[in-house]
Amino acid sequence: MGKTLITNGTIVTAADTYKADVLIEDEKVAMIGKDLKAAGAKRIDATGKYVIPGGIDVHTHMELPFGGTFASDDFYTGTVAAAFGGTTSIVDFAVQGMGEPLETARDAWLRKARGKAAIDYGLHVIVRDVTDKVLKEMDVMVKEGISSFKLFMAYPGVFQVDDGSIFKAISRTAENGGLICMHAENGGVIDVLVKRALAAKHTEPKWHALTRPPEAEGEATNRAFRLAEMAGGIPLYIVHLSSSQALEQVRLFRDRGLPAYAGAKYVMSPPLRERWHQDELWKGLARNDLQVVSTDHCPFCMNEGYMGQPRQKQLGIGDFSKIPNGAPGVETRMVLLYDGGVVQRRITLNRWVEVTSTTPAKIMGMFPRKGTIAVGSDADIVVWDPRTMSTISAKTHHMRVDYNPYEGRRVKGKAAVVLSRGEVIIEKDKFTGRKGRGKFIKRGSPILQT
Ligand code: URP
Ligand code: ZN
Ligand code: ZN
Repeated sequence: MGKTLITNGTIVTAADTYKADVLIEDEKVAMIGKDLKAAGAKRIDATGKYVIPGGIDVHTHMELPFGGTFASDDFYTGTVAAAFGGTTSIVDFAVQGMGEPLETARDAWLRKARGKAAIDYGLHVIVRDVTDKVLKEMDVMVKEGISSFKLFMAYPGVFQVDDGSIFKAISRTAENGGLICMHAENGGVIDVLVKRALAAKHTEPKWHALTRPPEAEGEATNRAFRLAEMAGGIPLYIVHLSSSQALEQVRLFRDRGLPAYAGAKYVMSPPLRERWHQDELWKGLARNDLQVVSTDHCPFCMNEGYMGQPRQKQLGIGDFSKIPNGAPGVETRMVLLYDGGVVQRRITLNRWVEVTSTTPAKIMGMFPRKGTIAVGSDADIVVWDPRTMSTISAKTHHMRVDYNPYEGRRVKGKAAVVLSRGEVIIEKDKFTGRKGRGKFIKRGSPILQT
């Protein structure tokens, strides 16, 4: 690959905002400086634009098997959509089959990703049975760069693990350098509420939210941090935190000096909350009670036939508990955070970069290779146009799903040019990359700071 020179832009990292050129060579940032010269280099004029590290979405589910169907984006359609939105790396979840070794889950997800992913990808593993053998396999995964594991406190009989198993797994990460990512909802209580609702013939989709109260999330978040505390104050990351009650727990444990981290998400399980929770989450993000925004991208189509997909959400007609859980977001994350955060002055430009790229890279063990613009880092770079206005719509988005939760919303800001390891993959509203060009990211241990 030849040289590329990005000129006249304003570089924005989590720490700094300054005008400089960026020279890219051999997939890496080679030089940053004023009026750089590079004979024969491809030139990208970033006048009036921000030059930011590519977005990192550490919570996606491409082709996830769920409720008798599969998430409708695969590693190709989902990563192309991510690139259009300014995201250049994802971390997806491999799922351990009951009784299966973690290696089997890893291999299955590498098969899904290889030859398809258009941007770089890492993997977490969802652990469903925490046996002594599996604990040893976790050590192997960490050595191989799969350094985080998701456990569920919800979905009894499917994903849920008991407190003893959680305690063992958290303790193990203290030894092997991995990180536990927790789905914190009280699955036992939710199961009772769901059964009661169905018995009373409450079958409509709104009962999904009504049977997953924010208190069930707050309780599980508290229990998860207590377990981490009992294991010796081990770092713990709560995924898709959605309620004020859960945020309160993060604040409590962080104030006590415990390494408690949490990522915000948009939708589903946990469900959409009342609007006041959103205001609290924005505040949490601004004050660093929340450190990461990922999407939990897990799309399912509403209607039959969209780009060859079956009608998936309608599996829940007559029983809300059969609706496959999840929603699309991998393409809209950067712009929603820019528009709702930076433009509306809830967070600074640098904080936007921090929560969408730098801290995800640090917590998930990819920094400084990913998550910043620095000499030697991968040239995953977005030239961000701060002025362009657009309307979010399923008619124009690139995700393989027939609805968009933000349909009709006007937003400011756009990924004008996207580079992944120095290669231009989005330019002039076209995908210029190649199916399968994305590489597996071998991740290390988390870099944690308060
Ligand atoms: O609704 C959701 N979140 N679906 C994906 C599975 C999970 O819990 O992350
Ligand atoms: Zn979850
Ligand atoms: Zn998820």
